[in-house]
Amino acid sequence: MLKALNIVGARPNLMKMAPVIAEMRLRPDCFEPILVHTGQHYDESMSGAFFEELGIPAPDINLGVGSGSHAEQTGRIMIALQEVMSEIKPDWVIVAGDVNSTMAAALVAVKLHIPVAHVEAGLRSRDRGMPEEINRIVTDAVADLLLTPSRDADRNLINEGVDPEKICFVGNVMIDTLHRNLSRANDSTILDRLVLQRGKYCAMTLHRPSNVDDKEILAGVLSAISAIQERIPVVFSVHPRTRNRLEEFGLTAMLRSMEKLILTEPLGYLDFLQLYSNSRLVLTDSGGIQEETTALGIPCITLRENTERPITVTEGTNRLAGSDPEVIKREVFAILDGITPAGRIPELWDGHAAVRIVDAIERA
Ligand code: UD1
Ligand code: UDP
Repeated sequence: MLKALNIVGARPNLMKMAPVIAEMRLRPDCFEPILVHTGQHYDESMSGAFFEELGIPAPDINLGVGSGSHAEQTGRIMIALQEVMSEIKPDWVIVAGDVNSTMAAALVAVKLHIPVAHVEAGLRSRDRGMPEEINRIVTDAVADLLLTPSRDADRNLINEGVDPEKICFVGNVMIDTLHRNLSRANDSTILDRLVLQRGKYCAMTLHRPSNVDDKEILAGVLSAISAIQERIPVVFSVHPRTRNRLEEFGLTAMLRSMEKLILTEPLGYLDFLQLYSNSRLVLTDSGGIQEETTALGIPCITLRENTERPITVTEGTNRLAGSDPEVIKREVFAILDGITPAGRIPELWDGHAAVRIVDAIERA
């Protein structure tokens, strides 16, 4: 029996861990899964709401660390997790993605000599200005089992000198969650609630510090949105970081002056899935949404200069536009004028990654 300590903290961790936890629960003779929530995200709309929607059991332990600077947040998670891991003595610690909770948990585990499995290993943007890039590099450097979503991730790890024995290409576990919930999302009433017609609006999210923590850059992106919403309604699900910055920079009046821009709180998974899967195109700087749009063949304009998920561009429907308003408008208008990016579904983005992940942990 393997005691597996599964770690979640921020919103995207939940979509990645839900299928892994479900698969472990199907193997009660082999796994005793224990769920720890660090409390990095804590609003109902950023965390609590997803547990019931995605069938994730209530966390066994919530560290309640909350927000803070990188050092404060990472430090608080590490201090609290060391106590938890020392008491529970898990056989494996499972972390996912690239948030502060991921890196903090991996560091604590490795120093306690507990093996670490990293779900979504090997992604690299090659942009060390991104906090997530540091989290990815550190987590992969200490993890014992590197579970990759795409072949480029394997190559990145090999190039960094990682022992190939530690690498296992399992495919994209976020797409497991997508497949499981596609038909359920049809019951969502979001399109009626927002008075939207299928294919006749854009969905948008924005939360990268590089876009929202700089007033000039954020105002520039909003000026592009202002022009876009004159041609097609835009639904903007506003992340709490972004909401705070918009208020701090005095940009909310600019937003409210846009007649066809619809602002929403962060949406539940099913509402958001129904929203973007029926949209004309998606504007985002999210990592996960670049993948989900590729899996569904929805055009995606990514408001970043680079991506750690290049397969969404080389094989999928994703295009990088950066944060220059002129480039954003050009890319969006090209799609509205009928130039739709063609894409195919990447290898092993097939809805069965969690089975391969849990098999790999069992074997290891
Ligand atoms: C974090 C991750 C990022 C991920 C994103 C997903 C890191 C370094 N960043 O960014 O990789 O893409 O989550 O959404 O781990 N806040 C609330 N309520 C909440 C959570 C946050 O109001 O429930 C506000 C706080 O003011 C907080 C700010 O949002 O300071 C930022 O939260 P934080 O978790 O530090 O980073 P994110 O920007 O959410
Ligand atoms: N998401 C959601 N509601 C929203 C916006 C996003 O459920 O209002 C989902 C999205 O479909 C994806 C995940 O949240 O599954 C991505 O998380 P986020 O963009 O916060 O983080 P990132 O992937 O950039 O780390």
